Amino acid sequence: MILYFSGTGNSLAISRQLAERLQDSVMPLSEAAHRNLMSEKRIGLVYPSYWFNAPRAVLDLIPRLRLSSDAYVFIIIPCGAQAGNAIWNVGKILSDNGIHVAYSNKIRVPDNSAIGFGRNPNDQVWKFERYASRLERIAKDIAAEVHSLHYAWWGPIGALCARPFIQKRTLPMLTPTVSPEKCNGCGVCINVCPRENIVKINGKAHCESNCTQCLACVHFCPMQAVELRDKSTLKERQYHHPLVKLSDLMRNDD
Ligand SMILES: Cc1cc2nc3c(=O)[nH]c(=O)nc-3n(C[C@H](O)[C@H](O)[C@H](O)COP(=O)(O)O)c2cc1C
Repeated sequence: MILYFSGTGNSLAISRQLAERLQDSVMPLSEAAHRNLMSEKRIGLVYPSYWFNAPRAVLDLIPRLRLSSDAYVFIIIPCGAQAGNAIWNVGKILSDNGIHVAYSNKIRVPDNSAIGFGRNPNDQVWKFERYASRLERIAKDIAAEVHSLHYAWWGPIGALCARPFIQKRTLPMLTPTVSPEKCNGCGVCINVCPRENIVKINGKAHCESNCTQCLACVHFCPMQAVELRDKSTLKERQYHHPLVKLSDLMRNDD
Protein backbone atom coordinates (compact mmCIF):
# COMPACT_ATOMS: atom_id res chain seq x y z
CA MET A 1 0.00 0.00 0.00
CA ILE A 2 1.33 3.44 -0.95
CA LEU A 3 0.20 6.34 1.25
CA TYR A 4 0.47 9.85 -0.14
CA PHE A 5 0.05 13.48 0.76
CA SER A 6 -0.20 15.83 -2.20
CA GLY A 7 -1.16 19.47 -2.81
CA THR A 8 -0.58 19.81 -6.54
CA GLY A 9 -0.42 16.18 -7.66
CA ASN A 10 3.32 15.40 -7.95
CA SER A 11 3.19 13.00 -4.99
CA LEU A 12 -0.09 11.47 -6.14
CA ALA A 13 1.18 10.91 -9.70
CA ILE A 14 4.41 9.30 -8.46
CA SER A 15 2.45 7.13 -5.99
CA ARG A 16 0.24 5.91 -8.83
CA GLN A 17 3.19 5.29 -11.14
CA LEU A 18 4.98 3.28 -8.45
CA ALA A 19 1.80 1.37 -7.59
CA GLU A 20 1.35 0.42 -11.23
CA ARG A 21 4.87 -1.00 -11.40
CA LEU A 22 4.62 -2.75 -8.04
CA GLN A 23 1.04 -3.97 -8.53
CA ASP A 24 0.11 -2.15 -5.37
CA SER A 25 -2.60 0.39 -4.48
CA VAL A 26 -2.61 3.99 -3.25
CA MET A 27 -4.44 5.70 -0.41
CA PRO A 28 -4.37 9.27 0.96
CA LEU A 29 -2.39 9.46 4.20
CA SER A 30 -5.37 11.18 5.85
CA GLU A 31 -7.52 8.10 5.16
CA ALA A 32 -4.77 5.66 6.19
CA ALA A 33 -4.64 7.32 9.61
CA HIS A 34 -8.12 5.87 10.27
CA ARG A 35 -7.27 2.34 9.06
CA ASN A 36 -5.59 -0.66 10.60
CA LEU A 37 -2.71 -1.42 8.21
CA MET A 38 -1.07 -4.08 10.38
CA SER A 39 -1.55 -6.77 7.72
CA GLU A 40 0.26 -4.77 4.98
CA LYS A 41 3.65 -6.33 4.20
CA ARG A 42 4.90 -3.27 2.29
CA ILE A 43 4.13 0.37 3.06
CA GLY A 44 5.23 3.32 0.95
CA LEU A 45 5.06 6.97 2.03
CA VAL A 46 5.16 9.60 -0.70
CA TYR A 47 4.99 13.28 0.26
CA PRO A 48 6.70 16.56 -0.72
CA SER A 49 9.47 18.37 1.06
CA TYR A 50 8.52 21.80 2.46
CA TRP A 51 11.39 23.98 3.61
CA PHE A 52 13.59 20.86 3.85
CA ASN A 53 11.12 19.19 6.19
CA ALA A 54 8.00 17.04 5.84
CA PRO A 55 4.72 19.00 5.61
CA ARG A 56 3.11 19.74 8.96
CA ALA A 57 0.08 17.66 7.85
CA VAL A 58 2.37 14.63 7.33
CA LEU A 59 4.17 15.08 10.65
CA ASP A 60 0.75 15.22 12.36
CA LEU A 61 -0.60 12.07 10.62
CA ILE A 62 2.43 9.74 10.84
CA PRO A 63 2.10 8.98 14.59
CA ARG A 64 -1.51 7.86 13.98
CA LEU A 65 -0.60 5.12 11.47
CA ARG A 66 -1.07 1.54 12.65
CA LEU A 67 1.66 -0.42 10.83
CA SER A 68 3.36 -3.74 11.41
CA SER A 69 7.00 -3.56 12.56
CA ASP A 70 7.68 -6.37 10.03
CA ALA A 71 6.52 -4.31 7.04
CA TYR A 72 9.04 -3.18 4.42
CA VAL A 73 8.67 0.62 4.68
CA PHE A 74 9.91 3.05 2.03
CA ILE A 75 9.74 6.85 1.67
CA ILE A 76 9.91 8.71 -1.65
CA ILE A 77 10.05 12.53 -1.76
CA PRO A 78 8.98 14.32 -4.96
CA CYS A 79 10.75 17.68 -4.50
CA GLY A 80 12.00 20.67 -6.47
CA ALA A 81 15.63 19.91 -5.63
CA GLN A 82 16.46 18.97 -2.04
CA ALA A 83 14.51 16.73 0.31
CA GLY A 84 16.43 18.16 3.27
CA ASN A 85 15.43 16.26 6.40
CA ALA A 86 11.91 15.41 5.16
CA ILE A 87 12.77 11.70 5.25
CA TRP A 88 14.80 11.78 8.43
CA ASN A 89 12.20 13.59 10.51
CA VAL A 90 9.41 11.17 9.57
CA GLY A 91 11.75 8.19 9.99
CA LYS A 92 12.44 9.36 13.53
CA ILE A 93 8.72 9.48 14.42
CA LEU A 94 8.24 6.01 12.93
CA SER A 95 11.24 4.52 14.72
CA ASP A 96 9.97 5.93 18.02
CA ASN A 97 6.90 3.73 17.31
CA GLY A 98 8.98 0.64 16.44
CA ILE A 99 8.75 1.00 12.63
CA HIS A 100 11.97 1.18 10.62
CA VAL A 101 12.33 2.77 7.22
CA ALA A 102 14.19 0.38 4.91
CA TYR A 103 14.49 2.48 1.77
CA SER A 104 14.28 6.14 0.81
CA ASN A 105 14.87 8.26 -2.23
CA LYS A 106 13.85 11.54 -3.88
CA ILE A 107 12.60 12.44 -7.34
CA ARG A 108 13.03 15.95 -8.77
CA VAL A 109 9.80 17.44 -10.09
CA PRO A 110 8.53 20.99 -10.79
CA ASP A 111 8.71 23.11 -7.64
CA ASN A 112 5.17 24.30 -6.91
CA SER A 113 6.47 26.92 -4.44
CA ALA A 114 8.24 28.81 -7.27
CA ILE A 115 4.95 30.71 -7.81
CA GLY A 116 5.44 32.35 -4.40
CA PHE A 117 8.73 33.81 -5.57
CA GLY A 118 7.45 35.19 -8.87
CA ARG A 119 8.70 32.21 -10.89
CA ASN A 120 6.81 29.77 -13.04
CA PRO A 121 6.69 26.10 -11.95
CA ASN A 122 5.55 25.23 -15.49
CA ASP A 123 9.01 26.24 -16.73
CA GLN A 124 10.35 23.18 -14.87
CA VAL A 125 8.43 20.49 -16.74
CA TRP A 126 11.78 19.36 -18.23
CA LYS A 127 12.23 17.54 -14.90
CA PHE A 128 9.59 15.01 -16.02
CA GLU A 129 11.89 13.73 -18.77
CA ARG A 130 14.60 13.05 -16.22
CA TYR A 131 12.37 11.44 -13.65
CA ALA A 132 11.14 8.62 -15.85
CA SER A 133 14.33 6.55 -15.63
CA ARG A 134 14.77 7.34 -11.95
CA LEU A 135 11.23 6.14 -11.21
CA GLU A 136 11.97 2.81 -12.94
CA ARG A 137 15.14 2.36 -10.87
CA ILE A 138 13.33 3.16 -7.64
CA ALA A 139 10.48 0.77 -8.48
CA LYS A 140 13.01 -2.01 -9.12
CA ASP A 141 14.77 -1.33 -5.80
CA ILE A 142 11.47 -1.47 -3.94
CA ALA A 143 10.33 -4.64 -5.71
CA ALA A 144 13.61 -6.26 -4.64
CA GLU A 145 13.13 -4.89 -1.08
CA VAL A 146 16.51 -3.18 -1.17
CA HIS A 147 17.62 -1.68 2.15
CA SER A 148 19.28 1.66 1.46
CA LEU A 149 18.58 5.18 2.69
CA HIS A 150 19.27 7.78 0.01
CA TYR A 151 18.83 11.51 0.76
CA ALA A 152 17.60 10.79 4.27
CA TRP A 153 19.87 13.14 6.24
CA TRP A 154 20.84 16.60 5.10
CA GLY A 155 23.05 17.29 8.06
CA PRO A 156 22.87 20.28 10.41
CA ILE A 157 21.36 22.61 7.79
CA GLY A 158 18.35 20.30 7.37
CA ALA A 159 18.01 20.01 11.13
CA LEU A 160 18.24 23.79 11.53
CA CYS A 161 15.57 24.43 8.87
CA ALA A 162 13.09 22.25 10.76
CA ARG A 163 13.61 24.18 14.03
CA PRO A 164 10.52 26.19 15.10
CA PHE A 165 12.35 29.53 15.23
CA ILE A 166 13.37 29.16 11.56
CA GLN A 167 9.99 27.75 10.46
CA LYS A 168 8.26 30.73 12.12
CA ARG A 169 10.08 32.91 9.56
CA THR A 170 9.90 30.68 6.48
CA LEU A 171 6.35 29.31 6.61
CA PRO A 172 4.53 32.70 6.43
CA MET A 173 6.26 33.37 3.08
CA LEU A 174 4.17 30.56 1.57
CA THR A 175 0.97 30.92 3.58
CA PRO A 176 -1.92 31.94 1.30
CA THR A 177 -4.57 34.60 1.77
CA VAL A 178 -7.73 35.17 -0.26
CA SER A 179 -8.35 38.43 -2.08
CA PRO A 180 -12.07 39.14 -1.38
CA GLU A 181 -12.29 41.33 -4.49
CA LYS A 182 -11.28 38.43 -6.75
CA CYS A 183 -13.02 35.53 -4.93
CA ASN A 184 -16.30 34.42 -6.56
CA GLY A 185 -17.18 32.02 -3.72
CA CYS A 186 -17.00 28.91 -5.93
CA GLY A 187 -15.55 26.77 -3.09
CA VAL A 188 -12.80 24.99 -5.09
CA CYS A 189 -10.19 26.04 -2.50
CA ILE A 190 -12.41 24.79 0.34
CA ASN A 191 -12.69 21.34 -1.24
CA VAL A 192 -9.08 20.98 -2.29
CA CYS A 193 -7.62 22.07 1.07
CA PRO A 194 -6.44 18.92 2.88
CA ARG A 195 -6.61 20.65 6.29
CA GLU A 196 -10.17 22.03 6.11
CA ASN A 197 -8.46 25.35 6.68
CA ILE A 198 -10.61 27.44 4.32
CA VAL A 199 -14.12 28.50 5.23
CA LYS A 200 -16.71 30.72 3.60
CA ILE A 201 -17.53 33.98 5.32
CA ASN A 202 -20.17 36.21 3.72
CA GLY A 203 -19.90 34.19 0.50
CA LYS A 204 -16.10 34.60 0.22
CA ALA A 205 -13.36 32.11 1.00
CA HIS A 206 -11.23 32.84 4.05
CA CYS A 207 -8.03 31.06 5.20
CA GLU A 208 -7.82 30.15 8.86
CA SER A 209 -4.69 29.33 10.86
CA ASN A 210 -4.21 25.58 10.24
CA CYS A 211 -2.47 25.84 6.85
CA THR A 212 0.12 23.20 5.88
CA GLN A 213 1.38 25.32 2.93
CA CYS A 214 0.53 22.72 0.23
CA LEU A 215 -0.56 25.59 -2.08
CA ALA A 216 -3.38 23.55 -3.65
CA CYS A 217 -5.71 26.55 -3.14
CA VAL A 218 -3.27 28.92 -4.89
CA HIS A 219 -2.73 26.62 -7.87
CA PHE A 220 -6.34 25.52 -8.41
CA CYS A 221 -8.33 28.73 -7.80
CA PRO A 222 -10.09 29.49 -11.13
CA MET A 223 -10.16 33.21 -10.29
CA GLN A 224 -6.50 33.43 -9.16
CA ALA A 225 -7.94 34.88 -5.96
CA VAL A 226 -5.67 32.99 -3.57
CA GLU A 227 -2.42 34.87 -3.19
CA LEU A 228 0.95 34.62 -1.52
CA ARG A 229 2.47 37.63 0.20
CA ASP A 230 -0.38 39.76 -1.25
CA LYS A 231 1.11 39.46 -4.75
CA SER A 232 -1.19 38.69 -7.69
CA THR A 233 -1.37 35.04 -8.72
CA LEU A 234 -0.92 34.65 -12.46
CA LYS A 235 -2.94 32.01 -14.31
CA GLU A 236 0.07 30.96 -16.40
CA ARG A 237 2.02 30.20 -13.22
CA GLN A 238 -0.63 27.95 -11.71
CA TYR A 239 0.67 24.39 -11.76
CA HIS A 240 -0.48 20.84 -11.16
CA HIS A 241 0.97 17.53 -12.29
CA PRO A 242 -0.36 16.91 -15.82
CA LEU A 243 -1.55 13.38 -14.98
CA VAL A 244 -3.59 14.54 -11.98
CA LYS A 245 -6.98 16.26 -12.14
CA LEU A 246 -8.49 18.65 -9.64
CA SER A 247 -11.13 16.02 -8.82
CA ASP A 248 -8.35 13.55 -7.81
CA LEU A 249 -7.29 15.93 -5.08
CA MET A 250 -10.72 17.06 -3.88
CA ARG A 251 -11.60 16.01 -0.35
CA ASN A 252 -14.35 13.44 -0.23
CA ASP A 253 -16.20 14.05 3.02
CA ASP A 254 -18.90 11.42 2.46
C1 LIG B 1 5.82 25.45 1.26
C2 LIG B 1 6.69 24.72 0.28
C3 LIG B 1 8.03 24.52 0.56
C4 LIG B 1 8.82 23.79 -0.32
N1 LIG B 1 10.11 23.53 0.05
C5 LIG B 1 10.88 22.76 -0.74
C6 LIG B 1 12.17 22.38 -0.32
O1 LIG B 1 12.61 22.68 0.78
N2 LIG B 1 12.93 21.65 -1.18
C7 LIG B 1 12.46 21.25 -2.41
O2 LIG B 1 13.20 20.60 -3.14
N3 LIG B 1 11.22 21.56 -2.82
C8 LIG B 1 10.41 22.29 -2.01
N4 LIG B 1 9.12 22.58 -2.38
C9 LIG B 1 8.59 22.03 -3.66
C10 LIG B 1 7.76 20.77 -3.43
O3 LIG B 1 8.44 19.86 -2.57
C11 LIG B 1 7.44 20.04 -4.75
O4 LIG B 1 6.94 20.91 -5.71
C12 LIG B 1 6.51 18.87 -4.51
O5 LIG B 1 6.66 17.96 -5.54
C13 LIG B 1 5.04 19.23 -4.39
O6 LIG B 1 4.31 18.02 -4.22
P1 LIG B 1 2.76 17.89 -4.54
O7 LIG B 1 2.56 18.30 -5.98
O8 LIG B 1 2.48 16.46 -4.32
O9 LIG B 1 2.05 18.77 -3.59
C14 LIG B 1 8.29 23.29 -1.53
C15 LIG B 1 6.95 23.52 -1.82
C16 LIG B 1 6.15 24.22 -0.93
C17 LIG B 1 4.71 24.40 -1.28
